[in-house]
Amino acid sequence: MIRNVRNNRIFNTKCITQYINYSSTDKPKVDLHQRREELMKRGLPKQKPIEGVKNIILICSGKGGVGKSTVSVNLATALKLANPNKEIGLLDTDCFGPSIPLMMNLRSKPYVTDDKKLAPLLNYGVKCMSAGFLVEKDAPIIWRGLRVMQGMETLIRHVSWGSIDYLIVDTPPGTGDTLLSLIQNIPINGVILVTTPQSAALEVTKKGAGIFSIVKIPIIGLVENMAYIDCPSCSTKINVYGKGTEKLAEELQCNLLGTFPLHPVISKSTDEGTPVTVTDTSSDLSKTYQDIARKVTHFIENEKSYVK
Ligand SMILES: Nc1ncnc2c1ncn2[C@@H]1O[C@H](COP(=O)(O)OP(=O)(O)O)[C@@H](O)[C@H]1O
Ligand SMILES: [Mg+2]
Repeated sequence: MIRNVRNNRIFNTKCITQYINYSSTDKPKVDLHQRREELMKRGLPKQKPIEGVKNIILICSGKGGVGKSTVSVNLATALKLANPNKEIGLLDTDCFGPSIPLMMNLRSKPYVTDDKKLAPLLNYGVKCMSAGFLVEKDAPIIWRGLRVMQGMETLIRHVSWGSIDYLIVDTPPGTGDTLLSLIQNIPINGVILVTTPQSAALEVTKKGAGIFSIVKIPIIGLVENMAYIDCPSCSTKINVYGKGTEKLAEELQCNLLGTFPLHPVISKSTDEGTPVTVTDTSSDLSKTYQDIARKVTHFIENEKSYVK
């Protein structure tokens, strides 16, 4: 044992030589780099699966209003139609603009189970949970900071999902607290990025995508939304926002899973809570969703060796 004169503490010599170097002034010098890494590791929450949920797919974008919720709803329902024996869940984590209650035509409040969890609401065979279910229909959600995190905790940890094969998670735009909290807390199989072909959307999508390579979450692919309008009188394709999604897919080394036009059927069906994948299964729009659903299940089943 030795006695440190400066603060009169007693150290075990064997232990002390492992990580303290003495300087000329006899001041203990800790390996700061190693120490910082240890502290960071300790500070990061451990990812914990959501009870009963086997696979989690995030639907993300850089910009708002590009169609994340529309894609989430239609993908979830398409997955259910393609896999009637599988359980599909849809979790809406956009606390400030929850769209799932409207788009899935779900208005009631979830009941609380015996173990004090929220029971998801069911429509079109898909189990749904949304921050929108937790407040009055027309009430604004005025949450900030800690309250948002509490809301997220409720949505992630206090929902009685039962058994879920695929959980589609609709997220708010960008790489804010909600996305970081999802990434840090739950194991995510892959991400689908939704974008319009407009430079403004593509740029932020590319920027935001960087986070997934840092945390090593695979990008399943891009969904290009509102890519063109089919002129009703001459059937010409009008590219409203330009072209550029394929180039972005190349840059991100991921697949372009599907392209959707700007189409009144889509906006009407989301407003009425009747997803086009359910109401018109033989339409081209539905078929594109069915194809994306097939690619997603293929990705999950062959996670490591995904090919187009
Ligand atoms: N392909 C489309 N054609 C027409 N309207 C669309 C299309 N995709 C989405 N919309 C509409 O655009 C609005 C924004 O879509 P939404 O899915 O809520 O975007 P986000 O979740 O990214 O904010 C919704 O009102 C939706 O009905
Ligand atoms: Mg949305």
